[in-house]
Amino acid sequence: TVLVVDFGAQYAQLIARRVREARVYSEIVPSTTPVAEILARRPRAVILSGGPASVYAENAPGIDPALFDAGVPVFGMCYGFQLMAQALGGTVDNSGAREYGRTVLSVSVPDSTLFEGTPAEQQVWMSHGDACSAAPEGFTVTASTDTVPVAAFEDDGRRLYGVQHHPEVLHSTYGQQVLEHFLHRGAGITPSWTTGSIVAEQVEEIRARVGSRRAICALSGGVDSAVAAALVQRAIGDQLTCVYVDHGLMRQGESEQVEKDFVAATGVRLRVVDAADRFLDALAGVSDPERKRKIIGREFIRVFEQAQAELVAEAGEAGEDVAFLVQGTLYPDVVESGGGTGTASIKSHHNVGGLPDDLEFELIEPLRKLFKDEVRMVGRELGLPEEIVHRQPFPGPGLGIRIVGEVTRERLDLLRAADAIVREELTGAGLDRQIWQCPVVLLADVRSVGVQGDGRTYGHPVVLRPVTSEDAMTADWSRLPYDLLARISTRITNEVRDINRVTLDITSKPPGTIEWE
Ligand code: XMP
Repeated sequence: TVLVVDFGAQYAQLIARRVREARVYSEIVPSTTPVAEILARRPRAVILSGGPASVYAENAPGIDPALFDAGVPVFGMCYGFQLMAQALGGTVDNSGAREYGRTVLSVSVPDSTLFEGTPAEQQVWMSHGDACSAAPEGFTVTASTDTVPVAAFEDDGRRLYGVQHHPEVLHSTYGQQVLEHFLHRGAGITPSWTTGSIVAEQVEEIRARVGSRRAICALSGGVDSAVAAALVQRAIGDQLTCVYVDHGLMRQGESEQVEKDFVAATGVRLRVVDAADRFLDALAGVSDPERKRKIIGREFIRVFEQAQAELVAEAGEAGEDVAFLVQGTLYPDVVESGGGTGTASIKSHHNVGGLPDDLEFELIEPLRKLFKDEVRMVGRELGLPEEIVHRQPFPGPGLGIRIVGEVTRERLDLLRAADAIVREELTGAGLDRQIWQCPVVLLADVRSVGVQGDGRTYGHPVVLRPVTSEDAMTADWSRLPYDLLARISTRITNEVRDINRVTLDITSKPPGTIEWE
């Protein structure tokens, strides 16, 4: 394992992904983790991420210098680089030499461990206020920029490396190569993290844990639960039963698709529970987003408990063995929900924070360590069809969190009709792969005056929220063609009674999240 110490910017997850792209397993730990704890995990290497702080700021997160004496290879990036410089006796100045964005890096030691085989001048992405003006003793300065005399250094003897820039972002042209040089040459790690190895490892782990007992799986129709289910099925075969809860908050045609596509692809045992009434009753009168999420999460588990009870009853004596619930929780969900990383909780994700305390299952979360792109690769490895592997993300709480205001049957019908038009048009325009997803949000408590034919209307607006993203942690609004937007708008306002305005959300994430609730 390579541990990425998170100094509080969004960069740590990206770094962890890039490390895995180099076929080396990585995890994120918060910067408050004591060094003894970091070392106890026997990391093959440690990476110190960038962060928003200045090393001079009061309460700036620091690093215990003991880390550098432990014989573990360390790579500092940006803020992590400066911390390293400072901790080891170099000089970091708050000189006002700010650099932000694309910068040219001049490599002065072409055969250095990090830069070998990369050009003498290369584009990198910088983002810092402080700058290192003198490297610590024992280090060789390997690169500089116009404004920063020490932009990279290394000490091969102690296997300590640092760069001022962000090698993890795509704007750093040779960033991935520099990172791989650290992992493979600097730290001497043999790449072994492959989809085949992920599947093999998980299958073994799940088999050992489940033994002869049984599991049920929360199938949602999304990629994550499908891959989780397929993985568990690979491990324990018929000891798995998938349960698909139709909570009445799905989009048009989706439930049918789950029943057809997924079963066809996997041959898995599937039980469908129609629980729409139950969810809608529980949601009656509720407008608060977090309450909705909690309620939906809670009802989900209750329905599963009921399904479990039925399975137990049917299985007779063997029934007590239905002990596990499979969920498609991903690594970013775990990090965003503050799962062991100290990161602030942004929303209670349906598969993590929304779970009630009185859960009666043990959880199997075979994707808990994986990023989305890795989940897709695992899905392919397991033989799932592209329509499932490349399905756009859809939140567990479904349309329940896309109606701003109370969720009712009528409102769901309105939203479903509008959403179906949007999906049809986006698919027709061939844009499904270019956009990450396009939530359609119904502003159910808002009405505006319109005119249609000769008559005055007083209907609701919908919001289109098309976004592009790599990992849902950050996102930008998609620049959809005007013609397409016009067609969507005309169709929705013509075909969906009671929707008389179509608006476009042009907010990036941050500051907006992708979903509205
Ligand atoms: P936000 O709104 O946090 O969404 O920017 C990030 C991504 O996560 C999806 N999402 C969820 N997925 N359960 C899920 O499985 C949830 O509770 C949930 N909430 C949001 C959202 O669609 C986007 O892709």
